[in-house]
Amino acid sequence: MDKLITIERHINDTQKQYPHATGTFSNMLQDIALAAKLISLETNRAGLVDILGMTSTHNTSGERQQKLDMFADNVIFQMNDHTGRVAAMVSEEHEDLIEIPVEYDTGNYVLLYDPLDGSSNIDVNVSIGTIFAIHRKFTKGEKGTIEDVLQEGKRLVASGYVIYGSSTMMVYTTGQGVHGFTLDQGVGEFVLSHPDIRIPDDPAYYSANHGSEIEWTEGVRHFTRWLQGRGDDAGPKLKQRYIGSLVADVHRNLLKGGVFYYPGTLQDPGKPYGKIRLLYEAQAMAYIISQAGGYSSDGVGDILNIRPHTLHQRSPVFMGNRDLVKKAEDFIRAHDAEWIAAYKDYRNRELIL
Ligand code: AHG
Ligand code: MN
Ligand code: MN
Repeated sequence: MDKLITIERHINDTQKQYPHATGTFSNMLQDIALAAKLISLETNRAGLVDILGMTSTHNTSGERQQKLDMFADNVIFQMNDHTGRVAAMVSEEHEDLIEIPVEYDTGNYVLLYDPLDGSSNIDVNVSIGTIFAIHRKFTKGEKGTIEDVLQEGKRLVASGYVIYGSSTMMVYTTGQGVHGFTLDQGVGEFVLSHPDIRIPDDPAYYSANHGSEIEWTEGVRHFTRWLQGRGDDAGPKLKQRYIGSLVADVHRNLLKGGVFYYPGTLQDPGKPYGKIRLLYEAQAMAYIISQAGGYSSDGVGDILNIRPHTLHQRSPVFMGNRDLVKKAEDFIRAHDAEWIAAYKDYRNRELIL
């Protein structure tokens, strides 16, 4: 048998390289892995529960089945609220900062998460995911604050995602490469299956919602034609694949090479920023992509350099092979001056506390 490396062992082995590490951070990643197993179980059961009209095991009184994204949100919160490792959390499903209940200790980290990504795919049995990111708390005092979660992506100490697909995988980085683990359903362990993932040099796919093309700016349209190998300055002629779960779309392109984009538009002048959430989606995935040798941009610059100003901030996203993403920036610079001005206005807003 090949050496079997569980996620727990991998986290512990990585930890040993830091003689002063207390283990807190490793335990936090393990808490997230456990939450992922519970969500995976419930995800697999979701279809069955619907068909049979049954309620899940935690709700036998005939109440409506809890929505899977609420379930996932709850699981992640409950795995992390009492451990003394986390000082505050923020989730796509909560308007405000989530404080740690007063009866529990707080710790040195803050956790940002999208509990269920791609939720429109749940009912049709298509891949969904969970996204997480961890910052070190830097403010004084016991409680984590908004400032602690509104940090630049380049300051993240870890991020990752779980994909609930044909198998369940957890992929994470702590700044030492990107590592992927597949859940062995039989023994209930995440086992190292994709060590040190690097985005392949030769890209295979581009991924964007073509249904929104009418709203795209000139630069994004030119970029798309370039990706399709059309025009004078023909690009790589990639195939198009789009799932509608950021996790699944980025995961595929991470393994096969390519670019995912969800651009900002001028369609609604007050909203030049697209759809993807900076704190719960873009930063975490951008850190993974950068650790795998790729690059992520908002169309103007590195996503990891954006200084967030509000919890539910959105960001245009272009992520994948560096040369492809740089090309998107080139096209946008050449064609989209009006959009750039509108978007910069939004991106550079003052901190909202
Ligand atoms: P969520 O399910 O967490 O709200 O996220 C959905 C997001 C993202 O995962 C995906 O890339 C995008 O929405 C898809 O949007 P369109 O349906 O507009 O293509
Ligand atoms: Mn999402
Ligand atoms: Mn979500």
